[in-house]
Amino acid sequence: MSTVRWGIVGTGEIANAVAGDFQFVPEAELAAVASRTQDKADRFAAQFAVPRAYGSYEGLLEAPDIDVVYIATPHPMHRDIALAAIGCGKAVLVEKAFTATQAGAKAVVDAARASGVFCMEAMWTRFQPVVAAAREVVAWGRIGDVIAVQGDLYAQRDFEPGHRLFEKDLGGGAILDLGVYVVNFAQAFLGDVKAIDCMTRLYGTGVEKAASINLTHSAGGLSSLTCGFDGPGPGRMSIIGTKGWIEVEPRFHHPTKISIHRAGVLPRIIEARPMGRGYSHEIAEVTACIDEGLTESTTMPLQDTLEVMRVLETCLRQSGIYHHEAHVELS
Ligand SMILES: NC(=O)c1ccc[n+]([C@@H]2O[C@H](COP(=O)([O-])OP(=O)(O)OC[C@H]3O[C@@H](n4cnc5c(N)ncnc54)[C@H](OP(=O)(O)O)[C@@H]3O)[C@@H](O)[C@H]2O)c1
Repeated sequence: MSTVRWGIVGTGEIANAVAGDFQFVPEAELAAVASRTQDKADRFAAQFAVPRAYGSYEGLLEAPDIDVVYIATPHPMHRDIALAAIGCGKAVLVEKAFTATQAGAKAVVDAARASGVFCMEAMWTRFQPVVAAAREVVAWGRIGDVIAVQGDLYAQRDFEPGHRLFEKDLGGGAILDLGVYVVNFAQAFLGDVKAIDCMTRLYGTGVEKAASINLTHSAGGLSSLTCGFDGPGPGRMSIIGTKGWIEVEPRFHHPTKISIHRAGVLPRIIEARPMGRGYSHEIAEVTACIDEGLTESTTMPLQDTLEVMRVLETCLRQSGIYHHEAHVELS
């Protein structure tokens, strides 16, 4: 396998976490980083031994020797940066939530498909070893037909004015930040959705503290999901079938253990630790797909991203919340 050269756009919290996981994927070279300011790019490059640091996003997007751009900015900036990267012929890995709007997601997917470049949402949960094991357990029919998914993702955060999680202009709110995980998980095991019922509690800034989401899936499954910033929670997830169920042990979005339960049989436990902080698996997936000349991941396909974005936007609209994509200054 040849080396795939990566560039990171944005030097915030998640960029720092993901950068440390490149060491676990020898075929992936973290070759460049871009920030809105040269000083931040230089500091990030020094910390992670990245050879090149750009003081504008444009510099990295136009660099001829970068194969794939990892976009690690707040959600409303994803669309413009992804479109610019695709326009430069780059593959893209776009943080979750993929964009701030369904229309933004469609624009990015359409552009990637038209250009024939690889594109994927950075939904790292789907690549965790025990989540892959849960998919196999289901595929073998061990729990029968999957009929329900139940779970929560609460991540307690004190309200902080100006922080991206709480500001509408930065795509704030629990639904795009945490709801994306629970809805994505339900969609992975129950498929597309035909009916959506969402209730929320809001901050004064007009974005959600918490949400309760009930989905009816097209194939008949039901999912019952909650998420929020205004309290702690276990982060449990259960996949329920006609012959048994799988518990994805907390916290389900980066789990190390699942237990499989069937009537009259002792529970079976599967444990597997992720490499590094757990982002190495999505890095490996993207690197392998690009090396093989693929334009999508079969584990996190673009159609699933579009469906999840449709569900999230419908949930938001039921509370009268309308997000917008930002216009990003790239130079
Ligand atoms: N997969 C996961 O586990 C995970 C965890 C956390 C976050 N995320 C996702 O990653 C994305 C970034 O989240 P984060 O927590 O890393 O955010 P963050 O700490 O605020 O960092 C975002 C970075 O984006 C850049 N940026 C560009 N325009 C910006 C603007 N107008 N305001 C603020 N920052 C701007 C900044 O980098 P420069 O100044 O260097 O340009 C900033 O450091 C979000 O979409 C989030 O959902 C994923």
